[in-house]
Amino acid sequence: MTGASGRTGSRVARAARAAGFTVRAASRATGFDFWDGSTWAGTLRGADAAYLAHPMDVGAPGAAEVIGAVAREAVRLGVRRLVLLSARGEDQSLPTEEALHASGADWTVVRAAWFAQNFSEGPLVAELRERGELVFPAGGVREPFLDVRDIADVVVTALTAGDRYAGRTLDLSGPRLLTFGEAVAEIAGATGRPLRYRAVSTRDYGEALAGFGVPRKEVAALTAIFDTLLDGRYAHLSDGVREVLGRPPRDFADFVREEAAAGTWTA
Ligand SMILES: NC(=O)c1ccc[n+]([C@@H]2O[C@H](COP(=O)([O-])OP(=O)(O)OC[C@H]3O[C@@H](n4cnc5c(N)ncnc54)[C@H](OP(=O)(O)O)[C@@H]3O)[C@@H](O)[C@H]2O)c1
Repeated sequence: MTGASGRTGSRVARAARAAGFTVRAASRATGFDFWDGSTWAGTLRGADAAYLAHPMDVGAPGAAEVIGAVAREAVRLGVRRLVLLSARGEDQSLPTEEALHASGADWTVVRAAWFAQNFSEGPLVAELRERGELVFPAGGVREPFLDVRDIADVVVTALTAGDRYAGRTLDLSGPRLLTFGEAVAEIAGATGRPLRYRAVSTRDYGEALAGFGVPRKEVAALTAIFDTLLDGRYAHLSDGVREVLGRPPRDFADFVREEAAAGTWTA
């Protein structure tokens, strides 16, 4: 399981262990580094299947090359069953998916909508908790926020169901479309705090990132991704969770209730 200390990988590992599988956690903390090919074989050798989560955006420059190289190394070592986490509605991720297809693996691509957990873990949560405001270039676009636990359940099923999902691209979304403003309003309602969402242009958002020291090249790649990802083309639901798990995806309100009770957004 790559990204084993991250949002999806930790939950994929937990779900796989709960289902009785032996899990090898992989990230820099365990000596597996995507940018250092000499660390790959020791982690991959002897595994039956692998979950690949690129540590930066799956459409970031260089992602296709590194995922392709890891996948080829896995196939060379006999690890043919590979599941890649990709992003729904992101044109920039297509070369990464194609690099996996070309590796000779029995591949499955899991294209995920925006994680609900972007509001509770990672770079956005601190400003929401500490400043009471989420500043983001998503305008009034509607998104079917997806609970990462559903991704984990789908990934574990895909990894362990033989060839059933080999050669398949699975589109996953949550069950309900919400604007970012409505999502923050649900969090405000559950916490009793006056939290708000402030939409900015991708250009202004990029300038703010550069101000925080993010290199200009990364800013350009990220803002290009946001421009396509958040243009409303993907403001619809996908049925991948129900298809694979035979149940509806978890609702954003359940996620909000649990995280609010855990104090995630308490100042
Ligand atoms: N956020 C969303 O809404 C969304 C939606 C669809 C798809 N995605 C995709 O999700 C992927 C990220 O997955 P995530 O959110 O589960 O991860 P994450 O929470 O961002 O965590 C990153 C993981 O990668 C590991 N890592 C960082 N640098 C590494 C390196 N050089 N070599 C090996 N491991 C490294 C980290 O552990 P160490 O620090 O120990 O190395 C950590 O386990 C991206 O490709 C993104 O495009 C995200």
